[in-house]
Amino acid sequence: MKEFEVKKRIITFFKKKKESFVSGEEISNSLGFSRASVWKYITKLREEGYDIEAVPHLGYKLKRSPDKLYGYEVSAGLSTKIIGQGDIYHFDAIDSTNDKAYELAEEGALEGTVVIAETQTKGKGRMGRKWVSPRSGGIYASIILRPDLETDELPAITLITATAIINTIKKTAGIEAGMKWPNDILVGDKKISGILTEIKAQPDIVDFLILGIGVNVNTSKGKLPPEGTSIKVETGEEVSRMELVQSMLLEIEEVYSKFKKKGFSSLRKECKKLSSVLGKKVKIEEHHRKIEGVAFDIDEKGALIIKDEEGKFQRVFSGDVVLPG
Ligand code: BTN
Repeated sequence: MKEFEVKKRIITFFKKKKESFVSGEEISNSLGFSRASVWKYITKLREEGYDIEAVPHLGYKLKRSPDKLYGYEVSAGLSTKIIGQGDIYHFDAIDSTNDKAYELAEEGALEGTVVIAETQTKGKGRMGRKWVSPRSGGIYASIILRPDLETDELPAITLITATAIINTIKKTAGIEAGMKWPNDILVGDKKISGILTEIKAQPDIVDFLILGIGVNVNTSKGKLPPEGTSIKVETGEEVSRMELVQSMLLEIEEVYSKFKKKGFSSLRKECKKLSSVLGKKVKIEEHHRKIEGVAFDIDEKGALIIKDEEGKFQRVFSGDVVLPG
């Protein structure tokens, strides 16, 4: 059995037993490992920062997990069917989780594979921007998806992911965030999370898609860019990144499954409800054009519809929405 799986089972066992001590024999009997292996892996877990108390005649108790998003612990509490049920790679530091996920996808990694890092040295944002990724304050994760979809259906995946993140932030921290089409998640006018979707596709068929997600969780103000905020900045309190990432992966899986079964039309209403730009005056900076007008609608493919100053409707597929300050 892989080390990942052994650690996952031990952590799951400890979590089920909550506050009580469990004997080495109990662990070894119920998980089917020798007492020696139980000891070996408990030692490894301690080295990774788990505070596991050992008392003669009573056994072991998990007192505290480290503030690290180790894949085996993420997967130990995860009730998804696809996302995070295969490999979850964890890096202490990496250039970009999106680049790593892309590389793994090219090598054949399965749908639902997740890459997580504590910090990124070259975190990427949209349109060539940087994503500031301070150590252990945020969630920097990329998910490999292999949807059987046509390329024009893909932009909507970013939008439904945004709704999943907004709902997760609401449930975990009680913060009401909104979506600035297509990929920014804002609290007021500050950015708390961003999504970078990258694809590898033939003209019509999608090989794979990388859903890259950054969430500012416990990052303090001084470590954020001026336009950024975090859960901690908004509420003054820290939340468990582990619980947040688990709940986010589940929410994403729910919207993704619904999207595959019933299409974007089943999720469009929710996207419009959580949009913070609809009805507002906006400027769009797309690659070659600039449009000013009112954000009027999000259409059935996920495009933003702008009613321009002459009253004409313009369909926008990508680009940046600027809200006049
Ligand atoms: C944006 O708002 O412009 C998108 C930000 C996306 C950031 C995430 S962090 C994890 C993943 N890896 C990256 O390099 N970028 C995405």
